[in-house]
Amino acid sequence: MITIEELAVFAKKKGFVFPSTELYGGMAGFFEYGPLGVELKNNIKDNWWHTFVKSREDVYGIDGSLITSGKIWEASGHLNSFADLVVDCKKCKKSHRADHLIEDKLKINVEGMDVKKVNKLIVDNKIKCPDCKADLSEINSFNLMFPVTVGAGSGSEITAYLRGETAQIIFTAFKNVVDSSRVKLPFGIAQIGKAFRNEISPRNFLFRTREFEQMEIEYFLRPKTKKCPLLKKKHTDLEFLFFSAVDQDKNKTHKKTKMSDLIKKKMLGEWHAYWLAESYLWFTGLGIKEKNLRIREHTSKELSHYSAGTFDIDYNFPFGWKELYGNANRGQFDLEQHQKHSKKSMEIFDEETKQKLIPRVIEPSFGVDRTFLTILYDAFNDDKKRGNIVLKFNPKIAPIQVGVFSLVNKLNKETREVFDMLKDDFICVFDKGGSIGRRYARADEQGIPYCITFDFDSLDDKSVTIRNRDDTKQKRVKISELRDELRKLLS
Ligand code: GAP
Repeated sequence: MITIEELAVFAKKKGFVFPSTELYGGMAGFFEYGPLGVELKNNIKDNWWHTFVKSREDVYGIDGSLITSGKIWEASGHLNSFADLVVDCKKCKKSHRADHLIEDKLKINVEGMDVKKVNKLIVDNKIKCPDCKADLSEINSFNLMFPVTVGAGSGSEITAYLRGETAQIIFTAFKNVVDSSRVKLPFGIAQIGKAFRNEISPRNFLFRTREFEQMEIEYFLRPKTKKCPLLKKKHTDLEFLFFSAVDQDKNKTHKKTKMSDLIKKKMLGEWHAYWLAESYLWFTGLGIKEKNLRIREHTSKELSHYSAGTFDIDYNFPFGWKELYGNANRGQFDLEQHQKHSKKSMEIFDEETKQKLIPRVIEPSFGVDRTFLTILYDAFNDDKKRGNIVLKFNPKIAPIQVGVFSLVNKLNKETREVFDMLKDDFICVFDKGGSIGRRYARADEQGIPYCITFDFDSLDDKSVTIRNRDDTKQKRVKISELRDELRKLLS
């Protein structure tokens, strides 16, 4: 597996992702998606929106504000509790996350540990500034929310915040969706969009950034509902690597487990299991390899302030198993908090029980950028035989689906006619630069699943060759049947 630094270099060279504001020296924790990156990212988001919103009858979409009132974050607890422990270098003044320094040196997870104990670990183990090796300050708590000033400076300006998660905007829009959209419990509200966190030490390329995108669903249930009618065999039979909270406390490792076992042992409820399985299947359906995925239960010490139980899907990054996705049982916490702080009822009328109630919530939360990163990792193949990189993207999310080549420039006019015939149905490029071998190599590095070559024989037999990226096999297809053939191959 290549390192995260090597992947970042490749991603920049091929136009997937660039460091932000490089022209002026760059800004840590911010990135820009290039021509290929934006297509891949949009395809991931479109696939998610189609799977979890458009093709379901019980999930409704919204697109909320990025700049949001501080009142939201006061109610949600983020202004109080959404903080990391930071230490400053006494010499170079750089700030570092205390838990990262301890994890790097001692290989232990201190999430949820008492501040005094974390401080003691740093002092006892003589942990120094990783950059200049000087002594570190005492630990401070650092809030991750980004404040922004709204309004012209006449005294009427207010402090607002860039949203720290998309979830809260779903909770604050909850009553408007209910009142406008004839929803019936159980139902979900989904959103894709940017979130911002003033991370102390953004690192590992797209893994931890200060501006990122989330794809989140808040799924609302009757508080007492336990049975999930949507739970099917494909969910309960799902097998995966599982790292329980108990095994983490005992310093053991993950083991193969079935979803039905976790339900039987009452480690999670049916609805939680359903959403966890649906999400896991979405990842594997996009081509992420199962051997690189595991489900990890949060230990009681690390649970977020709003969660009664959280399960992450982790990915085996070159820098270790890390969270790709989180799924929290948020109970009634958020709606009750907003009811208390806004002094407006968050209850809805439930037709079935003829009662007013505040629903409980299961929250599948996906990171767009981490999904992008894992897809790039799993697609990456350094093919020594071919002498080039091959990005084996699943064709349904590949940034370019079809490359169209003319064997020689003399055939450009006829080849363009083939390109024009395909371009409305598929994401195509017309590449006429360099030898055909060079063009195949370039297409491999862009992850194009199928390349079409128009050669001299095409003038007579009205056929072209289709070359498969993954095995380089070629077959001849009539131009009149090309569209149908490609549709079949790409589906
Ligand atoms: N609403 C719940 C929530 O925000 P989270 O675990 O803090 O939970 C959910 O974030 C997902 O958002 C993560 O699993 C990850 O994919 C993504 N994410 C969180 N912080 C991130 C960061 N600093 N950079 C990139 N992605 C991040």
